[in-house]
Amino acid sequence: MTKLWILLLGAAAWLPAQPNLMPWPAKISMGDGGLAIDQNFNTSFIGTPDSRVQAAAGRLIRQLALQTGLPLTEGFRDPTHARLIIRCDSAGESIQKLGEDESYRLEVTPQQARLSAKNPLGILRGLETFLQLVEPGAKSFIVSSVVIEDQPRFPWRGLHLDVSRHWMPLEVVKRNLDGMAAVKLNVFHWHLSDDQGFRIESKRFPKLHEQGSDGHYYTQEQVREVIAYARDRGIRVVPEFDMPGHATSWFVGYPELASAPGPYAIERKFGVFDPAMDPSRESTYEFLDGFIGEMAALFPDAFFHIGGDEVNGEQWKKNAQIQAFMREHQIKDNHDLQAYFTKRVQQIVTKHGKRTEGWDEVLAADLPKDIVIQSWQGQKPLAEAARQGYSGILSAGYYLDHMESASTLYMVDPLEQETAALTAAEKSRILGGEVCMWSEYVSPENVDSRIWPRSAAIAERFWSPQETKDIASMYRRLDAVSRKLEWSGLTHLSSYLPMLRRMAGDQPIDSLKILADVVQPANQDARDEANNTQQTPLNRLVDAARSKSKTARDFAALVEKMDRPQIRAWLILWRDNDAKLEPLLEKSFLLMEDIPASKDLSRLATIGLEALDGRLSDQRAFLEQAKKLHAEVEIAIVPSIEKLISRVTEPRP
Ligand code: ACM
Repeated sequence: MTKLWILLLGAAAWLPAQPNLMPWPAKISMGDGGLAIDQNFNTSFIGTPDSRVQAAAGRLIRQLALQTGLPLTEGFRDPTHARLIIRCDSAGESIQKLGEDESYRLEVTPQQARLSAKNPLGILRGLETFLQLVEPGAKSFIVSSVVIEDQPRFPWRGLHLDVSRHWMPLEVVKRNLDGMAAVKLNVFHWHLSDDQGFRIESKRFPKLHEQGSDGHYYTQEQVREVIAYARDRGIRVVPEFDMPGHATSWFVGYPELASAPGPYAIERKFGVFDPAMDPSRESTYEFLDGFIGEMAALFPDAFFHIGGDEVNGEQWKKNAQIQAFMREHQIKDNHDLQAYFTKRVQQIVTKHGKRTEGWDEVLAADLPKDIVIQSWQGQKPLAEAARQGYSGILSAGYYLDHMESASTLYMVDPLEQETAALTAAEKSRILGGEVCMWSEYVSPENVDSRIWPRSAAIAERFWSPQETKDIASMYRRLDAVSRKLEWSGLTHLSSYLPMLRRMAGDQPIDSLKILADVVQPANQDARDEANNTQQTPLNRLVDAARSKSKTARDFAALVEKMDRPQIRAWLILWRDNDAKLEPLLEKSFLLMEDIPASKDLSRLATIGLEALDGRLSDQRAFLEQAKKLHAEVEIAIVPSIEKLISRVTEPRP
């Protein structure tokens, strides 16, 4: 009885009329009918003028024109005739601040829509909500009647992008800022240096970008352009310069910064390497003072990320001068030596007017409490930081390169496990979280497909009330938002077919797509085991495959329902695909490695069909093999085939 009641409640909460919003608003009530969006759609503005609101209203019209195909005209109109009235009560901060008001109210009736906010940031967020509400109706495009009162759960909702392992040109950054804005993310964490590349122009120390980047770096002019672009979309830009480890690219031009003489070359492999800055020399801090001063003047945000992760201390152990320095200063081990370094760098960052941010490892130092700890290791260090009085954000669990499903990422919460037990005051120090896109296995061509749409689900975790946790609803809205994100200029869907066509040459790709639709890439650790480097081309099936197979997810739902006709149709398609695909796989050097995956897919489908027909044989050994990676891809339907076998062999009640 209780079970049935919960199920009914679950269904009632997510009737089909629910709009495809993501993140889900804090408060929403639906009305009858809706506002038609036609060629006469226009906006007007009341309140305190702000260049961001003006620009955002222009973008709304252009975006709406793209989404609907309607020719629309930009510019504010007289409020009595406008379809969308925007009202903003203040101009906001000149440099966007952590915790600035992002709340808004959106009311849509069949006559008019009204969006109001205290601060321009609320208007930016509300306009994105409005765009997500636009759907084709029976007679025109329509925005359902609704009242939304919305504000974020956390003030720090970030996307971290590594541009060092693989270079990401300006247009990649910009279109991802548009994607971030669409789902209300508000911090762009720019991982600008690492062992594999130093990606920003330094006028003071030009050998950093000249020798550490293979020519792939952002000029300071381009950085200003990105900062302005982000600000227009309500996004703060926090730069990260990882130190004292993960810094090989600095040492190519400035080997004197390192703890061993060099010479150094840009690192091409992935992992943790020995080179680290020399914490014992004053000249290191003089250099960092100059460099951080230059960068602190370029980046207006209040926060400055100094990295601090994964220092293995190997160079320190082998350097007699560093060992003597440690004895002289009673520094007992590498851990304390890094704490000494962190403290010195934190003082430099403070001197240049910024608040320091660092990964978990900086927590070792006894630092002023204004720093922010970004935890890549879990809720436990985050809770520890909060208990000690530091602010923190969570990134553990949000690593896109681990290739977890949207549902797994979605269920990770900055305030669960160890952080759930914090006091209210400690909890208030958890500022939010950041999605991490490390770039070992992404190029400008496929990076969007790794970030999106999964980051939209995480964005909901950061924005929406904690109890927003219905996975079926999340996936339904995620699929809709994913389609809409293409209108923001992202290529997460559109890059797929060209990547398949590249591998297939002049051959049709229909059968290749059937295989590609049900495979998904191995996670980063498994790919590292295959000895890939920065110079490995990312042009294989593993690179084209979507981060998670939607086809496999849909098939799992059919198995869950035991929809026999549909299950059978898919299985026949997969069983017969190998015969069609094999001639193509044999012809292309890029596809030859995928012959075993195609054969195993066919055999999996055959086993599934046998199970459906009640002709079962013991296939456990094969299923175990099918679970293994095939040229760095996973066949995503294996769990569903196992489930199907167990469903048909279950004793009937
Ligand atoms: C990290 O993942 N090493 C921050």
